Amino acid sequence: MRVLVIGGGGREHALIWKLCQSRLATKIWCVPGNGGISQHAECVPADLGDIHALADLAENLRVDLTVVGPEQPLVDGIADEFNHRNLRIIGPSKKWARLEGSKLFAKEFLDHHGIPTARVYGVFASAQDATEKLENLRYPVVLKADGLCGGKGVLVAKSYGEAAEFVDRVFKKGEFGEGGQRLLIEEALNGEELSFIVLSDGHDFLSLVPTRDHKRAFDGDLGPNTGGMGAYSCDGIISGSIEAQIRKRVVEPTMAALRSDVSAYSGFLYFGLMLTSAGPKVLEFNCRLGDPETQAIVARMNFDLGEVFAAVADGKLTSQRLNWYPGASVCVVMTSGGYPGKYAIGKEIHGLEEAAAMTGVTVFHAGTKREGPIYYTSSGRVLGVTALDETLDAARRRAYDAVQLIRFSNCHYRSDIALAACRVANIGED
Ligand code: AMP
Ligand code: GLY
Repeated sequence: MRVLVIGGGGREHALIWKLCQSRLATKIWCVPGNGGISQHAECVPADLGDIHALADLAENLRVDLTVVGPEQPLVDGIADEFNHRNLRIIGPSKKWARLEGSKLFAKEFLDHHGIPTARVYGVFASAQDATEKLENLRYPVVLKADGLCGGKGVLVAKSYGEAAEFVDRVFKKGEFGEGGQRLLIEEALNGEELSFIVLSDGHDFLSLVPTRDHKRAFDGDLGPNTGGMGAYSCDGIISGSIEAQIRKRVVEPTMAALRSDVSAYSGFLYFGLMLTSAGPKVLEFNCRLGDPETQAIVARMNFDLGEVFAAVADGKLTSQRLNWYPGASVCVVMTSGGYPGKYAIGKEIHGLEEAAAMTGVTVFHAGTKREGPIYYTSSGRVLGVTALDETLDAARRRAYDAVQLIRFSNCHYRSDIALAACRVANIGED
């Protein structure tokens, strides 16, 4: 099977690392890839904004299957273009990518199908209407710009002042471009978040191990939101009864609604959940795998990912079983200092071989460039240092031991990835 992977981050490196081990994969390409990915796949530069050029590339390379990492090509309709040309692809159609691409579309879908989510206070198309509403609400409330905003379009506002400032950024400063034409205001939910991802072939679906990511830049969940500073997965991350609730109240009704539609949902569907005292509620959908959740998930995969992808493309997912390594995985993201704001790139990275030589450790590259044997930083998120072990505590220690071996100028990482969960687990054992 000749495989093309679209994307160039840590998520795509993890997928390719796993696909390399597949008995089916004979050749892998990646657009645009990165330094780490170039160890396993042939990297091809291309504009991810041009879905026609990507389909031409898949035809020219005679690939048997294309896997899409990031949301933008899906929202642009890459799956429709590939299907139209009879090219096999893992990813939903443009219609269903709107579950991520439009927060209003997602909300209407959830409400229409009775799937639990935060209550909507209103949808507004002008600063004046939004501000009037905000004067009459109790805080906190959540404000969401409608379109894709690279993770920056959501504010949990603690006060009217904060909310009004965000409204200005949306409507007056136009910071969110097209995403800023409509603003959703909703109830703020309390609880722990969980990422629950399923893979669908249009008829059947299989669940991946649940994960939790850490979005804020600094320890203690302080600082600005980022793409993700780390993630973990472990047995018992949620109780059996919560998992049953998630399946019964959220995942199964969603998948049933998608199945009953004329156009099927094929590919990954990511449920961003809040586990509230009234049960799990949907915060957001993503039409793809999470990053860095994927790095933690892939570390636990004890199956042939190539076979599973082939089964999705053939609509035969029922023939597959997903087996997982027991225990836990932890991914710690190392970033260029300053990210998600301004940062420098082009710094030489030391210690990668030593870290990768550790048992149970895999270093996934998110933003690196390779020149011969030397790797340089090339983006905000640089590496996802990922460890697998028997317990969350042990996986966490192993990941941080590996992080200690890696150095580059002005490197930053959080030191508390999975820490709170380890504390809870340790209390449980006492
Ligand atoms: P979203 O892009 O919708 O996932 O929002 C990004 C982050 O904002 C989520 O991961 C949550 O931390 C937070 N968030 C979104 N919606 C809500 C809500 N209704 N209540 C509390 N937090 C929320
Ligand atoms: N880590 C969150 C996301 O991929 O959207």
